[in-house]
Amino acid sequence: MNLDIVILAAGRGTRMNSHIPKVLHQIGGDSMLGHVLNAASKLDAEQIHIVVGYGVDQIKKEFSKDKELQWALQDRQLGTGHAVMQAMPSIDTTRSEKQVLVLYGDVPLTNSSTLSKLVQQANENTLCILTLVTENPTGLGRIVRDNSGEITAIVEEKDASEEQKQIKEINTGIMVIPATKLNTWLNSLGNDNAQGEYYLTDVVAMAAADDDCAISAMIIDDENEVQGVNDKAQLAGLERQFQMNNAEQLLKAGVLLRDPSRIDIRGDIETGSDVEIDINAIFEGSVSLGNGVKIGANVVIKDSKIADNVNILTGTNIDGAEIGAGSSVGPYARIRPGTILKENTKIGNFVEIKNAIIGKGSKASHLAYIGDAELGENVNIGAGTIFCNYDGVNKHKTIIGDNVFVGSNSVLVAPVTLADNTFVAAGSSVNCDVPADSLAVARAKQRNIPGWKRPTKQ
Ligand code: UD1
Ligand code: CA
Repeated sequence: MNLDIVILAAGRGTRMNSHIPKVLHQIGGDSMLGHVLNAASKLDAEQIHIVVGYGVDQIKKEFSKDKELQWALQDRQLGTGHAVMQAMPSIDTTRSEKQVLVLYGDVPLTNSSTLSKLVQQANENTLCILTLVTENPTGLGRIVRDNSGEITAIVEEKDASEEQKQIKEINTGIMVIPATKLNTWLNSLGNDNAQGEYYLTDVVAMAAADDDCAISAMIIDDENEVQGVNDKAQLAGLERQFQMNNAEQLLKAGVLLRDPSRIDIRGDIETGSDVEIDINAIFEGSVSLGNGVKIGANVVIKDSKIADNVNILTGTNIDGAEIGAGSSVGPYARIRPGTILKENTKIGNFVEIKNAIIGKGSKASHLAYIGDAELGENVNIGAGTIFCNYDGVNKHKTIIGDNVFVGSNSVLVAPVTLADNTFVAAGSSVNCDVPADSLAVARAKQRNIPGWKRPTKQ
């Protein structure tokens, strides 16, 4: 492991117009820095250093679980060269074979395969720059080459001559630099330039002047991989790009997307064969969809497992649940954490379920709340049924056996058990256990008053 990675993330990102440090803004449900770290972590580096300044506490807190990271503080943002300097004390510059890969925390979509190709090109006598040829180089550092095509320097836009501004090959900022040399070069870096900053890019001219060091460039094709984010418009643009990449992968895997531009994946999704997804579906965290699953429009699914041949209908929200094969959920159902629906269940519109197991073939077709419960097989929960699981202090459980029928508008006051084959009359308020094979009627007896006169207006 001859590689150390330095991620620059000290900048405030003024143009984001936000109190959140720039690199914590999210793409696809993960922070930009999270994306960079994810790519970096696949490279087999000895150490990963993050240079932070603005919002250091917030950033460190966000990544506090990752004990391996090396944090370097850059109090004042005096330039990219100055930023890298802050990480140097914890890099072993005595080993000439050590390489330093510099990444930016606000360039989130670089593939690890691109980085690993770049790293492979570098060695103790070669500095490697990832460059891009673009029709729109404004604002970026230009790659200056001599007549024979050798790179001689990088010149920043603000320091460039009119002639240099015509150059279309730009510095993406991503470089691999031999550590020993980098250390020497950084020590002689000045800030006598248009911005009064210590430019990391100035080490390129130093490398060109060093007989012992070659410079090579790897030109990247896909602009999005090296696109940085400076404002919300660019953040939104890269979010769409990221989601288009996700959509393409799903389509390639055989998933039918009704509109690839209207899907959002904010985490990891696994899909079986013949999955169909209608518009505006959002998948968060870790989601798996079995074979033949159909997802309706405007569905949100988070951290859930959906088994084969399940139908999730329009507007349904599922979080932390398992949906058994052949089940149908929605439209407009809300399935909350701890819910397990066994095979062939049917949960209809405006049904909320929390922390409950619903047995095979059971149904709640409309307007119900089922919380903290266990239901057996072939149970029918009528419209308007409420499981009263909360007495204001504690939560209690409702247990329901097989083949139970709960009539509409019933209230089941937990803790309560309805044994197998029980039947609850509509409108009942059940607060005592019901033994097997019985009918529970728990409502006021009906009285009819003949000849009743309606009130008249006074
Ligand atoms: C830099 C490059 C430029 C390149 C461009 C690509 C230099 C001098 N210029 O430009 O050649 O085309 O990136 O986007 O390197 N940062 C710190 N501390 C600092 C300054 C910056 O951590 O003191 C971080 C920023 O948070 C950001 C990254 O370094 O993540 C790049 O900084 P930015 O100011 O955007 O770079 P530019 O000067 O625009
Ligand atoms: Ca920038």
